[in-house]
Amino acid sequence: MRQNQPIWYDSSLGGWRLFCYEDIVRVQNDYQTFSSEPSNGGSFSIIALDPPRHRQLRSLVTPAFSARTILQQTPRIQRIARELLETALARGAMDMVADFAVPFPILVIADLLGLPPDNWQRVKEWTDTLINQSSSEVAQRSGRNASSTLPLDEISRVLAQATQDHHQQPRESLLRLLLAAEVDGQRLTEQELLGFFLTLLVAGNITTTQLLGNAILCFDENPEAWEQLQRDRSLVASAVEEVLRYLPPNRGTGGSRTIIGGRRATTDVEICGQLIRRGEEVFVTTISANFDEHHFSDPDRFDIGRMPNHHLSFGHGIHFCLGAPLARLETKIALELLLDLLPNWRLLHNVPLEQIRNHIVFGAQRLPLVFST
Ligand code: HEM
Repeated sequence: MRQNQPIWYDSSLGGWRLFCYEDIVRVQNDYQTFSSEPSNGGSFSIIALDPPRHRQLRSLVTPAFSARTILQQTPRIQRIARELLETALARGAMDMVADFAVPFPILVIADLLGLPPDNWQRVKEWTDTLINQSSSEVAQRSGRNASSTLPLDEISRVLAQATQDHHQQPRESLLRLLLAAEVDGQRLTEQELLGFFLTLLVAGNITTTQLLGNAILCFDENPEAWEQLQRDRSLVASAVEEVLRYLPPNRGTGGSRTIIGGRRATTDVEICGQLIRRGEEVFVTTISANFDEHHFSDPDRFDIGRMPNHHLSFGHGIHFCLGAPLARLETKIALELLLDLLPNWRLLHNVPLEQIRNHIVFGAQRLPLVFST
């Protein structure tokens, strides 16, 4: 596609799809021409807002998500990871997805938000509902039918309870930041607060889950890279980047701007000689950009020492993933823990891999590991 048809109308998404690195970066940089807001306006999340509102709301939480602040959470994140892995190890068998990759990012973000760890399964269900809802929007457009709705009442109740807990026993948390936040002297509305809460709670968990699972797939396919990592742990951070490039959790096929933003042309514009009309949608194909030979040498090679590695898996421009430092740290901690506790893991190959079924994220549903301790 990069060579022959760098822009293509994808009728299943109802929009234009881009394949080349340069074009994707151009669209993500030019937020005036390519809006993140849905045509009917309004959105529950900063991911689907344009400036100036986007900038105002994002700046509220930027400090809390900076690499430096996130790094301070290392011991707590390590503790959560270790507890999960040790529980699985004690059982002697493990599904990397269900036993680790699913609960880990949810427990971490719940902890950062100041929520009790007990209802993480519900958060997982909300996430799946939201993701399936977005997937089904795509399905509906392509003539299939499915629908599901988010239990907003229940989520509001959890937020109200967390707010009450916070007032009774204040502690440093993202929630404290959101409750105290003011934009131009005005508090966030209840709906904005709920939108932010929900975005933070769900935005990062399914993607990070798939990233952790995809790391297993990459190392299973490239055992020599795992051996290299065992010999040289200084490569863990660049290995995380290479997994992000090589097998991104979000291939960029996202059909809904509510989760992984598509863009809408605000004016007639030409890309690669193709006229995009005002109001038409444009989607990026991250997995293609990450293999663009104009940007990556030997792109088909999984190279954990790759440097530089400017993949587009966290997006680009003003909507660059807010949670990138957190997702990176979580994955680094998980890989280091595997190196410590489970260096000789192997993926069980007698069950066929099943792909997670939705349009937004890419990864396996189950990853049964065998190991000797
Ligand atoms: C490997 C894990 C992750 C991947 C691959 C990922 C991917 C992305 C991408 C591609 C975007 C840009 C969407 C666009 O341009 O429209 C984005 C935005 C965002 N991500 Fe992530 N994400 C991950 C983890 C997280 C985590 C852990 C959090 C928070 C806890 C998070 C919160 C957000 C938020 C709030 C935005 C919207 C930023 C904005 O619009 O300014 N993400 N993410």
